[in-house]
Amino acid sequence: MIRPVLRMGDARLLRIARPVTDVFAPDIRALLTDMRDTMAHLNGAGLAAPQIGVDLRVVIFGSGEVNPRYPEAPIVPPTVLINPQIDFIGDEMEDGWEGCLSVPGLRGMVPRYQRLRYRGLGEHGEAIDRIVEGFHARVVQHECDHLDGVLYPMRMRDFTRFGFVEELNLASMPDE
Ligand code: NI
Repeated sequence: MIRPVLRMGDARLLRIARPVTDVFAPDIRALLTDMRDTMAHLNGAGLAAPQIGVDLRVVIFGSGEVNPRYPEAPIVPPTVLINPQIDFIGDEMEDGWEGCLSVPGLRGMVPRYQRLRYRGLGEHGEAIDRIVEGFHARVVQHECDHLDGVLYPMRMRDFTRFGFVEELNLASMPDE
């Protein structure tokens, strides 16, 4: 079921989400379906459970194929990540444009760690353990931030590079 996405200013986006205790619980199954439906409907690159008002540590991101609306976006494998944990590798940061379904119409330049390891549970309870960099690492940081009540503008340092997508001429990138 497609669910409404909360927008910045809604206090529910600022909560520290709770860990999932039973990956196989029916409400988690339903949550994953709703998150997938909602992300696909909005052509998003990622979605976190708090964005649809669910206070749990669940994110989804990636796409298995090129999104026709965003043909230049790098491919990230479709991933369900439950109770994620991030360990940054090195301290190298990289600037990149980000958008967010909870901050519609806007894009901002956000510094993120370039390389990291992330771990968590997949949708079937399997362990996920990956070392990634670049855009993939950026998406993971963006989505996992949602679980700690952090929206990308809160990570920005240069507000001269924050604006409406039409004015910035950045239409070829997805919201996350
Ligand atoms: Ni977002």
